[in-house]
Amino acid sequence: MHGFSYRNGELFCENVSLQSLAEEHGTPLYVYSGSTLVDHFSRLDSALSGVSHEIAYAVKANSNLSVLRLLASKGAGFDIVSGGELFRVIKAGGDPAHCTFAGVGKTREEIVYALEQGIYSFNVESEEELRYLNQVAGELGKIAPAAVRVNPNVDAKTHKYISTGKSENKFGVDFGAIADLYERAAAELPNIKLRGLQMHIGSQLTSIDPFIEAVEKVIPLVTSLKEKHGIEFWSIGGGIGIVYEDTLASGSPEWWASKSESERPLTIEKYGEELVPRLKDLGLKILLEPGRYIAGNAGVLITRCLYEKKGSAKTFKIVDAGMNDLIRPALYEGHHEIVPLTEPKTSDRLKVDVVGPICESGDFFCQNRELPDFQPGENIALMSAGAYGFVMASNYNTRPFPAEILVQGGEAKVVRKRQTLEDVIAGEEL
Ligand code: LLP
Repeated sequence: MHGFSYRNGELFCENVSLQSLAEEHGTPLYVYSGSTLVDHFSRLDSALSGVSHEIAYAVKANSNLSVLRLLASKGAGFDIVSGGELFRVIKAGGDPAHCTFAGVGKTREEIVYALEQGIYSFNVESEEELRYLNQVAGELGKIAPAAVRVNPNVDAKTHKYISTGKSENKFGVDFGAIADLYERAAAELPNIKLRGLQMHIGSQLTSIDPFIEAVEKVIPLVTSLKEKHGIEFWSIGGGIGIVYEDTLASGSPEWWASKSESERPLTIEKYGEELVPRLKDLGLKILLEPGRYIAGNAGVLITRCLYEKKGSAKTFKIVDAGMNDLIRPALYEGHHEIVPLTEPKTSDRLKVDVVGPICESGDFFCQNRELPDFQPGENIALMSAGAYGFVMASNYNTRPFPAEILVQGGEAKVVRKRQTLEDVIAGEEL
């Protein structure tokens, strides 16, 4: 569910008209729904209520300071992947003691910073990194809390670029090597406190099966690590998929009710029902690292149609956002639903490519898709753009970053100003 819907023929975010925001702030424009962020956080929290747990929001999905602050105010911890993300969490008022630090390539500077800030756990991806962490912690006279990321070799059945739990992926330590690694760490690494175990098998998982498979495979391992090394937490990662095809309709409970069990995308309630019984008697704190589930359908990217170009083979709608603003279609062939801000009056559809202004053929938001016939000058929304949208934007083609707006009820706040060209070249020297 989410806070975007047509009201009297106009697309709203909560109680604010998106057309009015586009007119006031220009396009391209990211708009987030605060109540949706909070609702997703709370629903996940309730779904896991049968087990001791903590939600460490994956900052990489959407790291705007106001988004982080809102989630921190609801009790979120944070999963970070860089010193920069830790810096953001602290600026937003988040507590480092509720931060886990993931990633295969942490630098010395990042490790020192995170040790000084007192994070909850380093989620370590190799024995080499664990030994280096021990060394740096020793030099600082500190004990580094750590969990190793287990690679359970489970197929997440998602896009190859966002699948992480197979042996051929660069992530984590082989399942079969974990027990020995914990033995060696306990015996040889005095500046490491083995606090937990971590896993994450991939992103945008739309079936519960890979989650169950991974959890069931790892339970005996985590149980024995608890007995032998007294670990206190198990992070089962993020990865919960969201609706991309029918995003707008999926904002209403009726849409969910209209789907049979087999047609229905993975719901957070199902996730909880299947996993909680398997996790609740382990005596471990369960950590979750959701990014997309919290933020994905809490945001849209508004863009204006500049031209319609009728080629001999295709009709192109050229818009003022490009792959530099939202790269998911170009990078993962990601599908984002496209809807006009003014509700179409007829059900007529035209087959079009919606493309950006960038000098690349990969700069498209859809190809050969049947869409309502919007015209130059009209604004459209690219749905499901709240996660891995703005955070993956670049200045390619010297295009400034869009502005970001956070809506809460009837109030809309600019939570990041649109970049100016001077901002873009700041730091460059002649
Ligand atoms: N934990 C770890 C260790 C991760 O690597 C990730 C995502 C998450 C949690 C959060 O996963 P989520 O709940 O959001 O699925 N840019 C891609 C997604 C990359 C995901 C990277 N890791 C996309 O736009 O689809």
